[in-house]
Amino acid sequence: MNLQELSNIAHKLVADHRGILAADESTSTIEKRFKSIGVENTEEHRRAYREMLFATPGAEKFISGVIMYDETIRQKTKAGVPFAELQAKLGIVPGIKVDRGVKELPGSPQEKITEGLDGLRERLQEYHKLGARFAKWRAVIDIGAGIPTAYCIRANAQALARYAALCQVENIVPIVEPEVLMDGAHDLGRCFAVTSETLKIVFEELANHRVALEGMLLKPNMVISGMKCPSQASVQDVARETVMVLKRHVPAAVPGIVFLSGGQSDIVATEHLNAMNALGPMPWKLSFSYGRALQAAALEAWQGKESNLVAGQKAFHHRAKCNSAACAASYDARLEKAA
Ligand code: 13P
Repeated sequence: MNLQELSNIAHKLVADHRGILAADESTSTIEKRFKSIGVENTEEHRRAYREMLFATPGAEKFISGVIMYDETIRQKTKAGVPFAELQAKLGIVPGIKVDRGVKELPGSPQEKITEGLDGLRERLQEYHKLGARFAKWRAVIDIGAGIPTAYCIRANAQALARYAALCQVENIVPIVEPEVLMDGAHDLGRCFAVTSETLKIVFEELANHRVALEGMLLKPNMVISGMKCPSQASVQDVARETVMVLKRHVPAAVPGIVFLSGGQSDIVATEHLNAMNALGPMPWKLSFSYGRALQAAALEAWQGKESNLVAGQKAFHHRAKCNSAACAASYDARLEKAA
């Protein structure tokens, strides 16, 4: 492990008000996204869609890294340039999702455990050769009656820590993603309590597994009201509670925290990030690693048509720019109208 190199990459991913594009949807997840615009889920459509995003002129000013899926990191532009090479040339760090998705947690069938540790060392070595310099592993914690159990949090935290330790051995920066889902009717206080417990156990296991905090990034949920909660917390409340829970549990040695959007609308995800950075200074950089919140408008503009490529790129560029502004706490609703 080269800690200096890992730390340099981790810092680069959150420097200069840039953030990460999560474009690592599995083939079945991208199918859902394509269905919403009536596009058939073929390999060529997936390739063309990703090329549109990755080749957006000027996006590198706001985007520091891209998380890809196994198929995506092996794909090329129409002109034959591997996506990872295109990104590296633009100063964007190529990344890779390495978990193999969630399965039912044995003994607690309402809950999920993330799989993918077997053979991970060898896969990381291959991804490094393909250009990946950071990785992602997502654990899912659901809130409901009697869940999450302490068992589910612990089992997922141990898997996250094993993954992170392996990444560092292979000189790949691990993004540690424990996602407390926003589905459900729970309120802000319950999300705070579950996020707090989850982060506490995750950092305990990262320490047990001797993960170097300087060479990783955390990708958490925000502390937010459940989607079906009748009283939705304000942007200010979400910002305050999220920063509080992070300050309690995330050591200052971690270079950055890059949020997932988790089903928030794109504008709300930007507003939340902006409001948090306005509460600064923070011990770490607060940035984004959004999937849906960066892509929704671009997908809608694209509609699977080559004639809409420029419109799709414009929409993506705009969202990336707004989120970069939110990293500097300088986002303003007027930026939306200017588009
Ligand atoms: P969303 O921002 O759409 O939640 O996706 C981020 C991600 O990478 C989830 O694992």
